[in-house]
Amino acid sequence: MPKITFIEYNGTQHVVEEAAGRSLMQAALDNLVPGIVADCGGSCSCATCHAYIDPTWIPQVPPADATELSMLECVLDPEENSRLTCQVKITPEMDGLLVRLPKSQF
Ligand code: FES
Repeated sequence: MPKITFIEYNGTQHVVEEAAGRSLMQAALDNLVPGIVADCGGSCSCATCHAYIDPTWIPQVPPADATELSMLECVLDPEENSRLTCQVKITPEMDGLLVRLPKSQF
């Protein structure tokens, strides 16, 4: 299974394994990673699963669709590499992915 590293705003790292096809949000929740609230349960309607994809990994992550882009307008501290983790499905190519968590969700 691909390994994903979630990095809290304070630098604390959480290395988790999750099956391809699951979302980054599910990987965080399954492994009790703090900072992913996910109030809507993954239906792209709350924006509390916001995180930043490490810039070196952007080419391995499919781009956000129109619905996600619309919801990303609601997050605090948006960046070019902002994503809603419920909308990012894990693929085998994401093994080693780095995801940074925003301070606003702690
Ligand atoms: Fe609500 Fe991702 S969990 S938008």
